[in-house]
Amino acid sequence: MLSSALPLLALSALSNAVAIERRQDVTPTYHYIPVDYEYGYDSRVTANLTFGSDSIAKPVKVVMDSGSSNFWVWAPGAVVHWGSQYLGVVGPCNETVPTEYDPSTSTTSVVSNHSSTYAYAGNSKIVTGATYSNDTVTAEGGSGGIPNVQFALEDYGLLKIGDNGSCTYVEYDTAILGLSPYTNTTAGPSFRQNLYETSEITSRTMVMWFNKHVGAIGKLTGGALFGAIDTSKFTGPLVRVPNAIETDQIGVYVPKPNVTINNITFVTDQDTNCLVDSGAHGDSLPFAYGGTESARFFAESGLIEVDGSVGYNGSCESIPADMKFSYSFPAEKTGEFVNIDVPVRNYARGYPNVFHPGVCVLNLEVGGCTFGAPFSSGVFMALDDEDGSIAFAQGGVSEEGSGIDEASLKTIGKGQSFDTV
Ligand SMILES: *[C@@H]1O[C@H](CO)[C@@H](O)[C@H](O)[C@H]1NC(C)=O
Ligand SMILES: *[C@@H]1O[C@H](CO)[C@@H](O)[C@H](O)[C@H]1NC(C)=O
Ligand SMILES: *[C@@H]1O[C@H](CO)[C@@H](O)[C@H](O)[C@H]1NC(C)=O
Ligand SMILES: *[C@@H]1O[C@H](CO)[C@@H](O)[C@H](O)[C@H]1NC(C)=O
Ligand SMILES: *[C@@H]1O[C@H](CO)[C@@H](O)[C@H](O)[C@H]1NC(C)=O
Ligand SMILES: *[C@@H]1O[C@H](CO)[C@@H](O)[C@H](O)[C@H]1NC(C)=O
Ligand SMILES: *[C@@H]1O[C@H](CO)[C@@H](O)[C@H](O)[C@H]1NC(C)=O
Ligand SMILES: *[C@@H]1O[C@H](CO)[C@@H](O)[C@H](O)[C@H]1NC(C)=O
Ligand SMILES: *[C@@H]1O[C@H](CO)[C@@H](O)[C@H](O)[C@H]1NC(C)=O
Repeated sequence: MLSSALPLLALSALSNAVAIERRQDVTPTYHYIPVDYEYGYDSRVTANLTFGSDSIAKPVKVVMDSGSSNFWVWAPGAVVHWGSQYLGVVGPCNETVPTEYDPSTSTTSVVSNHSSTYAYAGNSKIVTGATYSNDTVTAEGGSGGIPNVQFALEDYGLLKIGDNGSCTYVEYDTAILGLSPYTNTTAGPSFRQNLYETSEITSRTMVMWFNKHVGAIGKLTGGALFGAIDTSKFTGPLVRVPNAIETDQIGVYVPKPNVTINNITFVTDQDTNCLVDSGAHGDSLPFAYGGTESARFFAESGLIEVDGSVGYNGSCESIPADMKFSYSFPAEKTGEFVNIDVPVRNYARGYPNVFHPGVCVLNLEVGGCTFGAPFSSGVFMALDDEDGSIAFAQGGVSEEGSGIDEASLKTIGKGQSFDTV
C-alpha cells in the first residue's frame, strides 16, 4: 500500500487545516501489480505473487484474467488429473501439484471452510477446493504486501488433456486471479471487490496496460493499478465504450470493432459482442465462418490462413515493427469511435509451425470474438465497477520495463472515476 502522490497533497494542504483533516479522513491508497506476457504458444497475462508471510515462500505465476471473476491458488497436496480427451472424464494420469503456499506456515493466514468449483475454457479445466484463506499477497516489483486478501485453495484439478500413455508431462495454471467486474452472481473471492471492501482502495477501479516492446520478439511487460490511474501509460483520449455484457455472462464485454491492416478496413460480419480476456492466449476476430469478409481478409490483408489460424508469410522476426492491426471500437457516445493499434509482432508467440516452415503462425483466429493477451499488449483498459464502465485508450507506448510514474499517478477516490480525477 502506498499513499497518493505527495506533491499534490503538499500543495493543497500547506496552510489549510481543513485540507489536513480531510487527508487524515480519507487515506488515498492504491495497489500496483506488474504484469507480463511471455513468449509462448499458451501464454497469458501473468504476475508473480507471493502468498502469505512465510519467509521462504516463493512467488507463484498467477494468470491475471479479465475473463473470470474468482481468485484461487493450489492447496498443499493438490492433485491434478488428465489423460482423457473427453470432457468431464477422469483420465489415467495424475500428479501432485508442486505448491509454494501453505497456510499452516504463514502466520498471517486465516483459513475458513468454503467449497469452490471453477471451470475454464468451456469446462476443459475444472478446479475444486474446500477452503478459503485470507492472507497477505505481495506482487513481485509491486507496491508492497496487500493484507487480508481472500482466495480459494483448490485441491483437485480435472484437465481435458490427452496423453500417449506415458503420463509424464502436463502443463496447467498455477493460480488464477479473476479481474472481471464484480456482480451479485460472483461466486467466490473477488480480488478487486475485496480490495474495495477492506478499504485498501477507495474506488472500485482498475487499469491495465503494456509497454512498447522493441527489439527481438520476446517477453512483453506492463502493469495493473487498482484504485489509481497512471496517465503516462497511454496516449490520446481515454474513451468510454459501451458495456455489452448480457445476463449470466462473466467478463468484460464490448461491441465488436472493425479492423484495419495494411490500410485496408475489414467490416466484421459476425453478429456478436467481444470478450476482453487477458487470460486467453489469443484473439479471435468476428468474421463469419466461410463468409465474404473472412475470404476478403485472407485475400487482401497480406496475412494467410494456416490450419485455422492467421499467419504471416515469413519468419516471425521478419514482421515489420510498424505493421499493425487497428481496431475501431464504437464509443459510448453515439457516432464516435476509439482506435486501438496492436503490433502484428505481438501476436507472434512461439506457436509450433513444423508443418509450415517459413510461416509465422499468429495467436489469432477468425470466428467468434475474443480480445485476449495479444490485444492486452496494445490497449490501456480502465474498469469501474461502481457503474460498470469500461474505457479504452491507446496503450503500448511507455518504455519497456518502466514501473509506475509517480508524477503521472492519480489515486481515484470515493465518488471519482478513472476519467474524473
Ligand atoms: C516473473 O518471474 C519470472 C521468473 O523469475 C520473470 O522472468 C518475470 O519477469 C517475472 N514477471 C513479473 C511481472 O514480475
Ligand atoms: C494417481 O495415479 C496412480 C497410478 O495410476 C494411482 O495409483 C493413484 O491412485 C492416483 N492418485 C489419485 C489421487 O487419483
Ligand atoms: C472445517 O472442515 C473440517 C473438515 O471437514 C472440519 O474438521 C472443521 O471443523 C471445519 N471448521 C469449521 C470452523 O467449521
Ligand atoms: C509420450 O509423450 C512423452 C511426453 O510428451 C514423450 O516424452 C514420449 O516419448 C512419448 N512416448 C511415446 C511412446 O510416444
Ligand atoms: C442481480 O442484479 C440484477 C440487476 O442488477 C437483478 O436483476 C438480479 O435479480 C440480481 N440477482 C440476484 C441473485 O440478486
Ligand atoms: C476475509 O476476507 C473477506 C473478503 O474481503 C472478508 O469478508 C472477511 O471478513 C475476511 N475474514 C477475516 C477473518 O478477516
Ligand atoms: C464498420 O464499418 C461499417 C462500414 O463502413 C460502418 O458502418 C460501421 O460503423 C463500422 N463500425 C465500426 C465499429 O467501426
Ligand atoms: C493509406 O491510405 C491513405 C489514404 O487512402 C494514404 O494517404 C496513405 O498513404 C496510405 N498509407 C499506407 C501506409 O499505404
Ligand atoms: C508465401 O511466400 C512465398 C514466397 O516468399 C510464396 O511462394 C508463397 O506462395 C506464399 N504463400 C502464400 C500462402 O501466400
